[in-house]
Amino acid sequence: MSLNQQARAILTGNDRGGYTLPTDGLYPFQWNWDASVTALGWMCFAPARAWEEMRWLFKGQWQGGPNDGFLAHIAFHAPSDSYFPGADEWGTDGAPGTEALRTRTSSISQPPLHATMVRWMWHRAQAISPQAAAEAAEQVRGLLPGLLAHHRWWYRARDPDRSGLVLNIHPWETGMDNSPAWDVPLARVPQTTRPYTRHDLGHVDASMRPPQSFYDRVVYLMDFNRAQDFDPVKILASCPYRVQDVGIISILQRAGIDLLALCAACAWDGDVQDLHAALARTHNAVEALWSTRWNQYVSRDAITGELLDVPTSSGLLGAYAGFRHDLGPTVAAWLAETPYALPSTRSGFPGFEPLRYWRGPVWQHVNMLIADGLQRQGHAHLAQAIQACSAALFDASGFHEYYDPLTGRGLGGRAFSWAAATCLHWTDGAMKKQAGGA
Ligand code: DGY
Repeated sequence: MSLNQQARAILTGNDRGGYTLPTDGLYPFQWNWDASVTALGWMCFAPARAWEEMRWLFKGQWQGGPNDGFLAHIAFHAPSDSYFPGADEWGTDGAPGTEALRTRTSSISQPPLHATMVRWMWHRAQAISPQAAAEAAEQVRGLLPGLLAHHRWWYRARDPDRSGLVLNIHPWETGMDNSPAWDVPLARVPQTTRPYTRHDLGHVDASMRPPQSFYDRVVYLMDFNRAQDFDPVKILASCPYRVQDVGIISILQRAGIDLLALCAACAWDGDVQDLHAALARTHNAVEALWSTRWNQYVSRDAITGELLDVPTSSGLLGAYAGFRHDLGPTVAAWLAETPYALPSTRSGFPGFEPLRYWRGPVWQHVNMLIADGLQRQGHAHLAQAIQACSAALFDASGFHEYYDPLTGRGLGGRAFSWAAATCLHWTDGAMKKQAGGA
């Protein structure tokens, strides 16, 4: 089978009728940022299914109350006992905003890249046929209220002081769970003493997953959130983990730009001045996150005000977000340092671990976002170099959750949806074009 056929087979195999599992067993529900990346992949061969993925994601959106517009990191559309922590652990049933939902959810969010993915899906539909484009326009109109509410939730619940830099209250919310950037703030979080059983180690070797001390702390934070009744005001007042993650900030910024473009294209007649103002605030405030040590953006501990001066790939998303600094020279240096780009942590940093989840491995969808930014910043050759690395990884190792940047070996979950989708949307067509043009 060609890579394209394999990638389609993975999405089809992970399809649960309306939503797609990231991979069976390890992640048996619909995940937030996975869903939008996966929808991009569906868009390449089954447009109606792609829009369905997005509609199912928004079935879990909270409505009303202090978390109006909240989109959880997991939508538990159907029960499964192969994952910890499941729906009962999060305890959100009956929380204000969930009353009308028919889907149970977790209580934290994930990087809000949805408006960008929707815009890319619409562009692809326009290239398919006038009929696909018309269907896409209707779907986008249907998604706009949910997207707008979600962006407003981020600004209202996670930046009530309008600093321009939203914060997060759980490392899983960043999507980059055990990044070494979170080591210092996470060390202050107490380790839970209550019993629980992890299931991830039954699916993936422990060398590729976070250690127990990490789990003890993320479980503590999950329980803390529940003890505050999921009230954003109470949580921000006392959560022992509050971080301004440059990954979420960059992804929200780019998605905000794309959301306003979607509103304009749909002749949306609602007032969106608040979103314009939020973008302007972030564009200025983010410069406080520039690291002169690493020549890239980094995150900040919102409790101490200290920069978390760690070179992770999330800090290379500044170009994707349209921020001021030129990231070309830094990305060029990263590309020269590992055989397979881009590691999630720069390989010379002491916290770099090539196998362990977000401490070093390559994540292909992050490569796609970074490359898109570099292309926009005028570094087409760097964007192509990243794309060529990604294509080589798919070719050599297939569709894994993440990859070893030193050997190219596939790691974590197998038959992984966002890897398949990233190949379909980004590397497959482009690489064929380049080969044909050569
Ligand atoms: C996990 O369980 O490892 C996930 O990344 C949390 O969303």
